[in-house]
Amino acid sequence: SAAEKGGYDTFMEKEINEQPSAVADTLLGRTDAAGRLVLDELRISEDELRGVNKIIVLAAGTSAYAGTVAKYAIEHWCRIPVEVELSHEFRYRDPIIDPNTLVVSISQSGETMDTLMAVRYAREQGARTIAICNTNGSTIPRESDAVLYTHAGPEIAVASTKAFLAQITAAYLLGLYLAQLQRKLFTQQIRDILGALSEIPAKIQQVLETSDDVKELARNMKDTTSVLFLGRNIGYPVALEGALKLKELAYIHAEGFAAGELKHGPIALIDEGQPVFVVVPSPMDRHSLHAKVVSNIQEVRARGAKTVVVAEAGDEAVRDYAEQVFYVPETLPMLMPLLTTVPLQIFALELASAKGYDVDQPRNLAKSVTVE
Ligand code: G6P
Repeated sequence: SAAEKGGYDTFMEKEINEQPSAVADTLLGRTDAAGRLVLDELRISEDELRGVNKIIVLAAGTSAYAGTVAKYAIEHWCRIPVEVELSHEFRYRDPIIDPNTLVVSISQSGETMDTLMAVRYAREQGARTIAICNTNGSTIPRESDAVLYTHAGPEIAVASTKAFLAQITAAYLLGLYLAQLQRKLFTQQIRDILGALSEIPAKIQQVLETSDDVKELARNMKDTTSVLFLGRNIGYPVALEGALKLKELAYIHAEGFAAGELKHGPIALIDEGQPVFVVVPSPMDRHSLHAKVVSNIQEVRARGAKTVVVAEAGDEAVRDYAEQVFYVPETLPMLMPLLTTVPLQIFALELASAKGYDVDQPRNLAKSVTVE
């Protein structure tokens, strides 16, 4: 009913607009007065967590992209190797696990059969398991050693939006908590990152409130048959998620690529008018990837691509090569996915709506896949 949708036309639109609180509520109550992270709910001993020397993230669909975002941040902050694996691939390849391996599952529903089976398998092999989950009392948390709940609230639309941002947030908290326990970051560094995280909800709100251009572009592009997405580093999974949203909602062929891979194949796809979305790293990125991605934009544009860029506010360098730029507020480079994802979600929602599709119940898809 209209009331359930809180005045929005669709659950998807409502849920995209609930993202500021999905992130804020996931952060809530997880720090003490001194600004230290307290994750009491993680019922794995501090000693065990101090001994963790490898992390394996297991998930499927959008949740796996949240895991890939987390990999970049956790490896950077904790210096612990993180593997992200699709849960349905994991247990069929003799994975190497020991008691110092922490297995982190990510699941909105907590009921995805592939992920559940992967978690069971990991436990049998002796790993410690933590579930990042949005659904209280669901099966995956019950079968894990510990759970870190995301507080996105119930997600009704089949394609995941607010749960994704909440999953990234929770995974960041887990990474920072490990960094705190293992003394991989100074207290002040953790405080600074938590401070930047606490500003994210208001920044998402700003992205939501300035999304008219995204919507207009989506409506103008409703007859598009193929869209490519490029991203690099922590922006790469954002590109993958942008493409997935478009497939799920608008049934358009969409593909995400690591921008560095462009020259190894995907650039052959570019011809006159091919839309290419580019998620641009922060100009402050410590690896200077910004310049490399800007040259990727030039390369595809020179071959006729219609370039749509998502960049950080103040990034003037992208303007000359982009048909259209969507700016998101500045934040730490590692936190950018919490902002750059939002215009891509809105684009997919609006384009699918313009085509007259049911965005809450896309064809052939289920909210939770409880069969293998
Ligand atoms: C289904 C849904 C996706 C979701 C995936 C994983 O495919 O349509 O939106 O990302 O399952 O679901 P989970 O509940 O485990 O996060």
